[in-house]
Amino acid sequence: MAIDYLERIPNNVNLADNRRLQRALEDWQPKFLDWWKDMGPEGYQALDVYLRTAISVDAQGWAQFGWVKMPEYRWGIFLAEPEPNRTIAFGDHKGEPAWQEVPGEYRGTLRRLIVTQGDTEPASVEQQRHLGRTCPSLYDLRNLFQVNVEEGRHLWAMVYLLQAYFGRDGREEAEALLQRRSGDRDKPRILGAFNERTPHWLSYLMFTFFTDRDGKYQLASLCESGFDPLSRTCRFMLTEEAHHMFVGETGIGRVVQRTCEVMRQHTGDDVRRHGAIDLPTMQKYLNFHYSVSLDLFGSEISTNAANFYTMGLKGRFEETKKTDDHLLKGATYTVSALEGDRIVKREEAALPSLNERLRDDYIADCQRGVDRWNRIIKEHGIDLKLKLPHRGFHRAIGMFGETRVSPDGRVLSQAEWDAKKSEWLPSAEDEAFIQSLMKPVTEPGKFASWIAGPPRGINGQPVEFEYVKLAG
Ligand SMILES: [Fe+2]
Ligand SMILES: [Fe+2]
Repeated sequence: MAIDYLERIPNNVNLADNRRLQRALEDWQPKFLDWWKDMGPEGYQALDVYLRTAISVDAQGWAQFGWVKMPEYRWGIFLAEPEPNRTIAFGDHKGEPAWQEVPGEYRGTLRRLIVTQGDTEPASVEQQRHLGRTCPSLYDLRNLFQVNVEEGRHLWAMVYLLQAYFGRDGREEAEALLQRRSGDRDKPRILGAFNERTPHWLSYLMFTFFTDRDGKYQLASLCESGFDPLSRTCRFMLTEEAHHMFVGETGIGRVVQRTCEVMRQHTGDDVRRHGAIDLPTMQKYLNFHYSVSLDLFGSEISTNAANFYTMGLKGRFEETKKTDDHLLKGATYTVSALEGDRIVKREEAALPSLNERLRDDYIADCQRGVDRWNRIIKEHGIDLKLKLPHRGFHRAIGMFGETRVSPDGRVLSQAEWDAKKSEWLPSAEDEAFIQSLMKPVTEPGKFASWIAGPPRGINGQPVEFEYVKLAG
């Protein structure tokens, strides 16, 4: 299905046939652009960037590469192809035709789900807006901007649903999405991790690996939704999200690789003296970003999660591939729980445990990435492994929110935690060291001291391609 680029708002939803919606979105568009100019990448709005733009939504050839000034990026509304005769795959409405309109009784709940997802998209752009100045290479700078414009498009995707299906409340929510600000005390973004700072590139790469991956799992479970427009919107967003996963996984992999190279060249030396990031420090940043991302999945036991499922609004990861009854009324699921000062496994009702189940899918996916990083370390003959900390470590939400847990899963007293904390999480000194490395490298094909170059460039271009034209 091709996308109509002659329209002011590129789309594949026949926007021209729906005057009311078209007007609502054309009214929102300049406000979005004002937000982008205010809160998008700082200092790079006038430059040509080698970006990918979606031109159709089928699996092949949906992307076209070319020079774009970011404010001129063709943000638009792209839904995956409809699945003919799609039915609802789970919950109380299982087997009924998928909804093409919002079911009245679930209106408020569905709107909240869409707003919560939508709010994360501009938030990450805001968090990352100062990174350009300290880019480790033009290649990485381009990838950052690609992620940023696509998060902007993800906001469009959610705003389309709000404007098209939720009338006046939807319009108000669409405005509010442009008014909240990441980290703002008075009007913060909705979820905690999206109010944290992204102060430097190490934290950004960790964010794209761990926090964007939460996004992947939320989108994947919304793809299963009985509300068909939401399902189709999220299905297309996931194709863009794959690039964000790539940036995080290969980015951290390249940092690890650089560290290993320095360790081999200067055996016994402190790698920091050679401008690389030592693996214990990498471990601390991993611990931090993983734990705040785990919180995004919510409480282990949650009636909201059960309701979203029973209502048919949000499924499990790969719901349609599972072979159970898709109702889960009498089923159980194994959940970690605190028993005094021990952490045990306990069988809980499956429906309220759905957050924990999605978190488990996410953890397994994170582990696969960590395994690939560890392979790089091993290939350099270095006897050290990065590890995901225990799920209870450094949590603010759910079962472990009030408890101190070590990375290896022991329940600690506050005093034990205080004594060890700086071994497990980045200290002010680590942070100062990482900041000291953040010097811009903008010569094509060159990379900062702390990150290796990639094996290949973007879209078949050489690594030394001038991905961002700094000269303007
Ligand atoms: Fe996104
Ligand atoms: Fe993303």
